[in-house]
Amino acid sequence: MEPHLRRIVNPLLTWYETHRRELPWRLDQDPYHVWVSEIMLQQTRVEAVKKYYARFIKALPNVQSLSEVPEDRLLKLWEGLGYYSRARNLKKAAQTIVRDCGGVFPDTFAALMKLPGVGEYTAGAVASICFHEKVTAVDGNVLRVVARVTGSRDNVLLPAVKKQMEAQLREVLPDDAGTFNEAIMELGETVCLPNGAAKCGDCPLRGVCTAYRDGLTAELPVRVKQTKRRQEQRTVFLLMAENGTTRHCKYAVEKRPDKGLLAGMYQLPNVEGFLTEQEIRATAEAWGMQVLEITFLKEAKHVFTHLDWFMKGYQVRVTHPAGDFLWVTPKELQEKYALPTALKPFAPR
Ligand code: ADE
Repeated sequence: MEPHLRRIVNPLLTWYETHRRELPWRLDQDPYHVWVSEIMLQQTRVEAVKKYYARFIKALPNVQSLSEVPEDRLLKLWEGLGYYSRARNLKKAAQTIVRDCGGVFPDTFAALMKLPGVGEYTAGAVASICFHEKVTAVDGNVLRVVARVTGSRDNVLLPAVKKQMEAQLREVLPDDAGTFNEAIMELGETVCLPNGAAKCGDCPLRGVCTAYRDGLTAELPVRVKQTKRRQEQRTVFLLMAENGTTRHCKYAVEKRPDKGLLAGMYQLPNVEGFLTEQEIRATAEAWGMQVLEITFLKEAKHVFTHLDWFMKGYQVRVTHPAGDFLWVTPKELQEKYALPTALKPFAPR
């Protein structure tokens, strides 16, 4: 089947012919100009970049001059743009080009990727715009357009999703990949805007856009930041009480609170932190038990949605069933009190 994205190519290129903004770095296809502008544009808006770009190129008109610029002068030229590592990497890359490439700008995606501060996006932009290599240049603007046109609900902040969208674009990339890349970026920056500001009325892709058709423009793209997972250490008690013979030993279980993690499930008693054997003994005694023996069982890890449990389990042999627990046989534990998966590694037998 024809890829859906194929349908954007012609309307996009036609639109770009008449809607292309005149920007200072579009006056020629000099890789030095395109490279500097793409680096500046990575964390800064087009309007703000314009005046920095003009001043920078006037002061440092070529790779040679950039490679020789004193650090203070460079940082002064970058002042206000922020993310100063971008400027330092520009100079390092210029030095690399002078030293290793005889001052000639690398002219393939692969060679560009080797320069400091140049990632897939920048290498793709320079290679396609200046050297007409058929490669993609996918930034946040492009991901937004692709997600909306295809109606994808995948999280575009995931590298795998970005890769897959790049692959979809690669499949439909026209010979003039540079113009296509600039056109789709331009659409993302001026029409297919984020945060409820999309100007679908002005969009050349309205007729082929899934989000527009289904009224999903405000929902797409999906961008879910992975929050940092909480990590918890826990000590798990396999409390074991013998009733005369070991064949009739019972184990302590308890019901978890009705709200929150594993709500209402039965579990082996466990507490936060990795306890020493002394602390384990003291804890069991505080629960009203007399401890006979403590045996380390094993470590285990369990991954919840927002939380990781790192667990150490101990078998704690006590004189008789006590405390606020249910004391159950292994058979009952299996059949009536199904343990949460997190605690299964410590279940008897
Ligand atoms: N944003 C960043 N680089 C761009 C480019 N080359 N064309 C349009 N928008 C851009």
